[in-house]
Amino acid sequence: MDKLVIEGGAPLKGRVRVSGSKNAALPILLAALLPDGEVTLENVPDLRDIKTTYRLLELLGCQVENGAGVVRVTAGKDLQPEAPYELVRTMRASVLCLGPLLARLGRATVALPGGGAIGARPVDLHLRGLEKMGASFVMEHGNIKGKCKRLKGAQINFDFPTVGGTENLLMAAATAKGETVLENAAREPEIIDLANFLVACGARIEGQGTSVIRIQGVDRLSPCRYRIMPDRIEAGTYLVAGAITGGNLMIEDCPLEALDAVATKLIQMGVRIEEKKDGVQVSRKGRLQAVDVTTQPFPGFPTDMQAQVMALLCTAEGSAVIRETIFENRFMHVLELVRLGADIKLSGQSAVVRGVDRLVGAPVMASDLRASASLVLAGLAAKGTTEVRRIYHLDRGYEHMERKLSAVGARIRRERDES
Ligand code: UD1
Repeated sequence: MDKLVIEGGAPLKGRVRVSGSKNAALPILLAALLPDGEVTLENVPDLRDIKTTYRLLELLGCQVENGAGVVRVTAGKDLQPEAPYELVRTMRASVLCLGPLLARLGRATVALPGGGAIGARPVDLHLRGLEKMGASFVMEHGNIKGKCKRLKGAQINFDFPTVGGTENLLMAAATAKGETVLENAAREPEIIDLANFLVACGARIEGQGTSVIRIQGVDRLSPCRYRIMPDRIEAGTYLVAGAITGGNLMIEDCPLEALDAVATKLIQMGVRIEEKKDGVQVSRKGRLQAVDVTTQPFPGFPTDMQAQVMALLCTAEGSAVIRETIFENRFMHVLELVRLGADIKLSGQSAVVRGVDRLVGAPVMASDLRASASLVLAGLAAKGTTEVRRIYHLDRGYEHMERKLSAVGARIRRERDES
């Protein structure tokens, strides 16, 4: 296992480029199961979850060729309908192959994902929606076993605007018979990217990015070439990195329009964010001010930025309340931040962060992807040495993070963790 060793205190200066979006690339790679032929995807990030998705696609019978951010996926005639537990347990998003497999093969066996570190994360809304389209499911040995004739259009009203559920249903509906209407659909930018990819393959979709998405099923999809959007959460993490170190960063390929809620909070805190011709510049003047944050589905403040902004609030002036409304257990980073000298009290789904003058380096343990990012950020600002252990979580979702940070002046290195 690797760890990151960070000597804190260096203000980050220079340019950092945002990679392609993990959360857009995952469903789009699996949507490549739908057309018969070679799909070419650009700007695919080099991440552990993405490599897991290639393995999954190969197990399902696809050919995957991967070179320098450009990936070709060919889903020929001989597809297999089974996503085994060994893969699903390492990456919950594997469940997104359910919709495309049912649409393409009329059957799918996908291991039921277990609970994650951040919460229970059931998939009931995915299954209920697919049932409305004519699929039936049984549970067998921990697997969801689904079958259907050609899926048929349906009116589906989600109890909650689930991101994965909306994606699964969008993929299932693209080639279903007739019209599907998704109500209370998730509005995340990654949903728009998936819908745009499907449209580039010949799907007829309207309303992506709003709560009501209408899909007129077509008989078949054709392969296309598509460029994945930049990663808004990685971009947001670098905005915080610039601010927390009191540096001056130019973030290239920063999807600022998809980061509105985050940028608004950062600006309220006193972070300077300026849109320039060649990127988004982030800097700050003086000490930041505490502001309250509540996570919400898009366009609200993203749960995937909660941990990073908490790191930033640790040294702001005043107290802030952070409320987590999306996942029930997404405060695993709190006790680790406290090890770095933060003053944070947890009460149910809220955390009260009282700003301290300075964080001080210490060994800490990463528990999930975004928690890891928050510990790296805190380490960059802390006095002395911080060691972040279990960074395999980080490798799931941040492309070459230590390389990108070193290039802008961070004193950060990867080491084998023998302990
Ligand atoms: C996606 C993102 C993840 C992000 C999350 C919320 C990917 C690969 N992952 O996860 O990074 O944190 O959106 O923005 O894109 N729920 C149910 N039943 C369901 C589905 C969801 O109760 O069938 C609940 C979940 O337990 C959770 C909430 O709805 O409490 C949000 O989940 P969802 O939007 O589905 O998140 P994911 O798609 O898993």
